[in-house]
Amino acid sequence: MKTASENLTCTSKELFFLLHDLKDGKPAGDCRIDDTLANQKLKETLQQDKFDITANLLNRMDTSPSRVDFLPLHRLITEEEVEDVIEAVKDVLPTGQFTSGSYIGVFKAEIAALLRKNHVMASSSGTDAMIIALKAAGVGQGDEVIMPANSFAATENAVLAAGGTPVFCDIDPDTFCMEPSEIEACITMKTKCILPVHLYGKRPDMEAIAQIADEFGIPVIEDACQSIGVSNLGKNSLCAILSFNPYKNLGTCGKAGAIVTDNPSFASACMEYMYHGFELNQKNKKKADYGFNAKIDNLQAAIGLARMKYLSLNNLKRLYLADRYMTHLQQYEDRGLIKLPQMTDDQVWHLFTIKIINGNRDQVKDMMLKFHHVQTDIYYPILSHHQNTPLVKANYQHTSLPVTESVHKQMLQLPLYPALTVEEQDKVMEALIDVVS
Ligand SMILES: Cc1ncc(COP(=O)(O)O)c(C=O)c1O
Repeated sequence: MKTASENLTCTSKELFFLLHDLKDGKPAGDCRIDDTLANQKLKETLQQDKFDITANLLNRMDTSPSRVDFLPLHRLITEEEVEDVIEAVKDVLPTGQFTSGSYIGVFKAEIAALLRKNHVMASSSGTDAMIIALKAAGVGQGDEVIMPANSFAATENAVLAAGGTPVFCDIDPDTFCMEPSEIEACITMKTKCILPVHLYGKRPDMEAIAQIADEFGIPVIEDACQSIGVSNLGKNSLCAILSFNPYKNLGTCGKAGAIVTDNPSFASACMEYMYHGFELNQKNKKKADYGFNAKIDNLQAAIGLARMKYLSLNNLKRLYLADRYMTHLQQYEDRGLIKLPQMTDDQVWHLFTIKIINGNRDQVKDMMLKFHHVQTDIYYPILSHHQNTPLVKANYQHTSLPVTESVHKQMLQLPLYPALTVEEQDKVMEALIDVVS
């Protein structure tokens, strides 16, 4: 943990050490937490009298659950958050400022403070943000973009929408993220951008990726849609893309996203594309040939601010749940039944992904549901180069990604979200152990 003179920003690295200090019995009141909005609820929690790590960071229920759902939507937002969101909506509705309005600037400033970035362009979704960033980075018809094949379809769709051609690169079997040593073989004269994905909330090896990119003079855009709160986000790239859809670690109550960068001219180009190609601060005067209608709504920005207060607390809860999974399941990895993800300080545990080593993954999934009523999931069920589309049939029939393909058959996501209870998590682990043993 940092010394008393420095306040914790509470991105993933600091939360990692904070959790270990709290587990070691260090007094929570001694932790000096930075005053950014994202840390507000974490700060209140740690500073309350008689803070107790288990009681205050884990949820309990009185009875043992009869079933566990993977991601029950009504539990992704707490009653307290609903109250805060209602207040935000009440503030905005009478003003009529549903699209443009003053909350947008505040939202952008809070994201900038959290991530220590100079420019935040808040958008109508992560997908829109990614299309715009690719366009502003110069990606056009026929340009190649190197990316993994195991991401959500939004990543490849953004490349295609910008006119680019996805070139799929293999992954690291332990992190599920782009393998830097595989990038060079994907580079051609047409390569215009490298697009690594922070899959499941894990930061790819950005230092190694940036080194190759610099060598070849290719810009890097980080798809960080699943990793708000990860340390060093956007540090080794032209920009990072965020998503604030309701399933993400920081969700609005609709669709929203952002581009974050330290590059002022790139930021201006993004702003122009984000709003009809208009010159900045000029009413309806075009500078770019065209642009999108893709700015965040004032209403979603107000809601995002209301929910941002909970981000670091929720990320710490996710980390604690991941840590519990790791501790309790370690012996089953040692026995060769499963493979756990690595417990590192560069992830925000958007999803908890294991690999089934002993047995057929699909059968394990089905049996956990059938015999234990525990729902697990697979993110994402079809790899990009295996989709049944005309484009894939025409261009990717011969694409071979041995690691991506082999890992894809083994991986399984266990439930993990801030409101998951200890009892539910125990039931998930009992079910898994019973089925794989
Ligand atoms: C890896 C990844 N990239 C891009 C996106 C697109 O974000 P949005 O849903 O905000 O358009 C998502 C969200 O689902 C995502 O998980």
